Amino acid sequence: MHVVIVGSGIAGLTAAIRASSRHDVTLVTKGSLTDGATAYAQGGVAVALGADDSAALHQADTHVAAAGSADVRAVEVLCTDGPARVRDLLALGVPFDRTTDRASLDRYGDDLARGREAAHGRWRVVHADGDATGAAIERTLVDALHRRHVTILERTCLVDLVVREGAVVGSDVLDLLGEPRRIDADAVVLASGGAGHLYRETTNPLVATGDGQAAAWRAGAVLADLEFVQFHPTRLAVPDGGLVSEAVRGEGAVLRDVHGRRFMTDVHPDAELAPRDVVARGIAAAVRDQGGEPVLLDATALDPAFLVRRFPGLTRATRAAGFDWTREGVPVAPAAHYAMGGIATDAEGRTSLPGLLAIGEVACTGVHGANRLASNSLLEGLVFAVRAADALGAPRPGRLGLRGDAALDVVTVGDAADARRASRQDRTGGPDHRTDVADVRRAVQSVMTDRVGLLRDATGLASARRDLDHLVVPAPTGVREHEDRGLLDLARLTALAAEARTESRGAHARTDHPDTDPRATRSHGWVSRPAAVP
Ligand code: SIN
Repeated sequence: MHVVIVGSGIAGLTAAIRASSRHDVTLVTKGSLTDGATAYAQGGVAVALGADDSAALHQADTHVAAAGSADVRAVEVLCTDGPARVRDLLALGVPFDRTTDRASLDRYGDDLARGREAAHGRWRVVHADGDATGAAIERTLVDALHRRHVTILERTCLVDLVVREGAVVGSDVLDLLGEPRRIDADAVVLASGGAGHLYRETTNPLVATGDGQAAAWRAGAVLADLEFVQFHPTRLAVPDGGLVSEAVRGEGAVLRDVHGRRFMTDVHPDAELAPRDVVARGIAAAVRDQGGEPVLLDATALDPAFLVRRFPGLTRATRAAGFDWTREGVPVAPAAHYAMGGIATDAEGRTSLPGLLAIGEVACTGVHGANRLASNSLLEGLVFAVRAADALGAPRPGRLGLRGDAALDVVTVGDAADARRASRQDRTGGPDHRTDVADVRRAVQSVMTDRVGLLRDATGLASARRDLDHLVVPAPTGVREHEDRGLLDLARLTALAAEARTESRGAHARTDHPDTDPRATRSHGWVSRPAAVP
């Protein structure tokens, strides 16, 4: 069969390599092969490979971080398939860092160096080239891809999925000359990553504009858990600053306010190594209390030679921003990092639409629940890519466990155009806030950051939706307009999903509903009205 895979991060590359032995594969990617988020990943891959660890312990940590709403089956699959998938990477030649430390060799039973990150009960994050794990994996997978028979279309942007008689039969793309083109396929696998550019500040690469989620939504696939957006606690708070890995805190760095006070010890017993959503909100509160000044990540207690050797990329990045982090704290603040929600799938990547599969960040298996455990994302890409590749061509089961069996309350809503038509009839004035309707992306980002961000409430969410309904992307033609159209659709759905969840859980924090509702364990799925399908 002919399979189109969209995206060239860890999930897309792994699926393409695996599927190429049995199928005719075309890999489509918006930038160059290495432009996605995988190459940005610093911390590493969380995996229970050590003698002191087990899949059960990894599962338990994943569930605690997920605030009780991860899908049990998906987590089990992730943690039990994980070790074999990391061994595959070792066999392909990923240069994971090694240690000669006697105590480590005895404890783990192998010489892999391991880091620790927030909410992990074990040191289980394997890494490569210090803090450049993602880039090392990406390089190795691209080399492996080039040894397979795969047609590679770079600078080719997904526009829409082609649906015939209820099944996906291809994709419409803009090719590298910006010309529309249709690629027929027996199956389309979306591995196109996240949508960090819904927000003003993000750790994501430029290509992360949610094209896959938006195309799937327009085609009629069910999306789920969109309210769960992870903010990474520590982005370097300078213009265009990037991620500062949680592994730095795992090695002992602490967070201080402008007075030098270690504030996270007041917030959570695990302080800087509390679950990511807790640390991000702790930092946001400290930033607010000090009039918007970023907090400081203080790594000065670490041995300077170790710090530089363990984090060579971050040493370069902080130096380029004018800081010597062996001697002073560096300014950090939270930024949009990862979408726990996405296209609802089962554990083989199957979606509600026959012919469409989704893997990695674009998908929602439910494996991360309301908050992803640090360094589970690369593992997710690996594990579910292999399962999806192996499911290609297999008969579709009668009943799919989308985002966990029976855990989805599906809501049908109109597309953004319907919403705008309705809002034109309803509205009595202009947008609630001053919204730059001419620059749709900037307007979406400011609405999302200010009202659908780290902290939410009913009033802000309702006004966010009204303001989003005033925005229009007229007849998109180029890549940027297609991205903006998708960002706008996703922004609107995310605001709807955040309004619908009237509790706080993991990354979704409602100041008007600060408690977790133990009954609210079901997820919302969102599907477009059939009339909205192009
Ligand atoms: C980090 O290194 O802190 C990011 C890893 C992740 O997002 O899991």
